[in-house]
Amino acid sequence: MGRTGAYVDRALRVLADTRVQLAATVVAVSAATAGVIAVRREVVTKRTPISLTPNEESLVREQLARHYAFLGEGGHLLLWSTDGARLYALANDRAGGRVFSVDIASGARTALTGSGYVSSIARAGADMLLAVYSNTTASADIYAVETAGAEAAMRQIANVNHDILDSVRLSPAEDFWFTGARGDQVHGWILRPHGFNASRTYPLALHIHGGPQRASTHSFSHGQWNPNMNAAAGFAVVQINFHGSSGYGQNFTDSIRQKWGGYPYEDLMKGLDAVLANHTFVNGRRLVALGGSYGGYMANWLNGNTDRFSALVSHDGQFDMVSSYYTTDELWFVERLAGKFRTPTLFIHGANDFRLSLEQSLAPWTLLRRRGIPARLVYFADEGHWASRPGNSVRWYREVLE
Ligand SMILES: *[C@@H]1O[C@H](CO)[C@@H](O)[C@H](O)[C@H]1NC(C)=O
Ligand SMILES: *[C@@H]1O[C@H](CO)[C@@H](O)[C@H](O)[C@H]1NC(C)=O
Ligand SMILES: *[C@@H]1O[C@H](CO)[C@@H](O)[C@H](O)[C@H]1NC(C)=O
Ligand SMILES: *[C@@H]1O[C@H](CO)[C@@H](O)[C@H](O)[C@H]1NC(C)=O
Repeated sequence: MGRTGAYVDRALRVLADTRVQLAATVVAVSAATAGVIAVRREVVTKRTPISLTPNEESLVREQLARHYAFLGEGGHLLLWSTDGARLYALANDRAGGRVFSVDIASGARTALTGSGYVSSIARAGADMLLAVYSNTTASADIYAVETAGAEAAMRQIANVNHDILDSVRLSPAEDFWFTGARGDQVHGWILRPHGFNASRTYPLALHIHGGPQRASTHSFSHGQWNPNMNAAAGFAVVQINFHGSSGYGQNFTDSIRQKWGGYPYEDLMKGLDAVLANHTFVNGRRLVALGGSYGGYMANWLNGNTDRFSALVSHDGQFDMVSSYYTTDELWFVERLAGKFRTPTLFIHGANDFRLSLEQSLAPWTLLRRRGIPARLVYFADEGHWASRPGNSVRWYREVLE
């Protein structure tokens, strides 16, 4: 039995201890699949630790990987308590993803988890939840969360990747706040490059999240955009939850309406200034920025507004607001800004991206090439809006890092 088998096995033992319902098996977190349902059926009939055939194991692995990719999308989840008196809810909270218990009668809200990111929960009896949790330095795994008491300690009940994680160095996220657009406090964090030496200077990679009404979080990305991949390549990495991000109140999220370029751009520039003012180890003349979807739109926006960056990555980004379906004050993006494009850019696009089609990358790529500015277009023939297949992820990192 491999790692996944041991993982399921161990979690099941914990579940057996706590008289858990079938619905709360460890694999229920990715229950939408036949492979996982087969595992669950076996749990019901045998009620003993199970072993998986190589086929089943690879199926479970694949489903977990897919589930983890989905986690990156920050799906929220609601669950009723077994007695119906409470609702358990996942919500973004300042770059974290926390489980809240909401008392239905009073509306009182209690946080059950602290820092880091819970991406999905399943019920495990009357007083316990199972949670998929990760943080910047710990990949997603299964934890038990007590539902009684505030911020009860979470207990890790599986550690499926420890042999791999123990062999790599991961930089923690160091939080900071600065005064951004409209005088609001804006949250960001920095990861130091691996092998950090305070007397050296390092280039900086700015990661820009998509959405825009979502957030960069203190979670562990199993697909693209894991900031530690850039830290491993010798970059300091900065992420900023600019106006429009979720987890800072509805007003902050809503504030991006009609301001797709404006507030976030101001936040990113001010955040970078704050980082450069505090950290002499960052070389302010070696800045790059990377983003996907809305983050790709912002990479294009940076190209039209500043020459602060020596290179950009725009993944499935938006370029032409006219041929796209948004109508904001930035409708004339191309006319107003494309004339200024001069930063070398890597464009990445998926053939099956039905949200933003290929011409959104083809157009700015052509523009840069015609001006003799280095530009590269990487086209994934078998990807949609995210490049999620494992082989493509490897290729994606190679393209971005080289
Ligand atoms: C991240 O998770 C690991 C494993 O559970 C834990 O040891 C560590 O304290 C967590 N870090 C943060 C910042 O919460
Ligand atoms: C840190 O960098 C300085 C300057 O390059 C070098 O002299 C020193 O040996 C480095 N320290 C370590 C621990 O690598
Ligand atoms: C929400 O933001 C607007 C500016 O966009 C501000 O005028 C208003 O006072 C804010 N409301 C609250 C409740 O903070
Ligand atoms: C800069 O340093 C100040 C004072 O220590 C701190 O409050 C602030 O969060 C720091 N900002 C950044 C971007 O590191």
